[in-house]
Amino acid sequence: MGKSSYSSPLGVGGVTIHSPGTVANLVCGFDILGLALNAPYDVMKVKLLDDSKVIIHNKDSFNLPTEPERNVAGVVLLSIIERMENKIGFEIEIEKHIKPGSGIGSSAASAAGAAVAANHLLGNIFSNDELVQFAMNGEKLASGVKHADNIAPCILGGVSLIRCIHPLDIVSISSPDLFVTVVHPQIEVRTSDARQILRQQILLKDAIRQWGNIAGLVTGFLKNDLELIGRSLEDVIIEPVRSILIPGFDEVKNKCKEAGALGGGISGSGPSVFMLSKDEATATTVESVMKEVYNKIGIDYNTYVTTINKKGVEVVAE
Ligand code: HSE
Repeated sequence: MGKSSYSSPLGVGGVTIHSPGTVANLVCGFDILGLALNAPYDVMKVKLLDDSKVIIHNKDSFNLPTEPERNVAGVVLLSIIERMENKIGFEIEIEKHIKPGSGIGSSAASAAGAAVAANHLLGNIFSNDELVQFAMNGEKLASGVKHADNIAPCILGGVSLIRCIHPLDIVSISSPDLFVTVVHPQIEVRTSDARQILRQQILLKDAIRQWGNIAGLVTGFLKNDLELIGRSLEDVIIEPVRSILIPGFDEVKNKCKEAGALGGGISGSGPSVFMLSKDEATATTVESVMKEVYNKIGIDYNTYVTTINKKGVEVVAE
């Protein structure tokens, strides 16, 4: 790819963005499906500098690295700087509300937020596909592999299908206005570890079941068919392996479905568990069920009852 340039005066203003949490995989669509959440979200302030450097300030208590090469937002900004003809840099303040290692797209929020904010300061010279490409450098740093199932919905909002990443082919999928309940048991599961334990070979019969579910889920979203969405939220490949890392997983899933959730499962690589519901009352009942299970097990947790975020990363102040 060639170099890009921009012609705005350097050092003007800054931008504040909100970068949403995301649920990747959507149970059956490992690495290819994801949706954005209205809560939680990170807050980032980014300023343009006239020197090729990235300065990072963490405004939270997560002690993430501030060296740009070791920081998810930092590597994204470095990749943007590399693409520019002009000598530019960025200063960034990051206030994370999405806990790292939660399974609700913490690294993607940092990566996508940095890419969108930088692009805004540069006069929106990059396309959404280019922003996804830049942001995937952050996912590579965080999990060892480029994947876009958090990044794409984080940038675009709504539900995203990543048909392919080489070359990039992202399809936005319309969806009913569903409610999402998330429980985050307070244990950390590193995405890189949760990927390493997966089997590299799968049985054809499992693949057939899985791609039936993926097609069913996408069709269910497009046709507003809630029963079909519920039936398709089934994973015979990844969940049986990863759910072992999540205390109480089977109990939470079964009891939430009994309480009226359409279905759900592991959010991203876990340990968060999400459930989709058709209305807020059911989503709130589902939250109570999640709390009961983790109170009984004796593990601290956070819960969110929220909706699908349709906007993606949002510029809230300049
Ligand atoms: N698709 C990725 C995984 C998402 O499941 O490893 C990580 O958040």
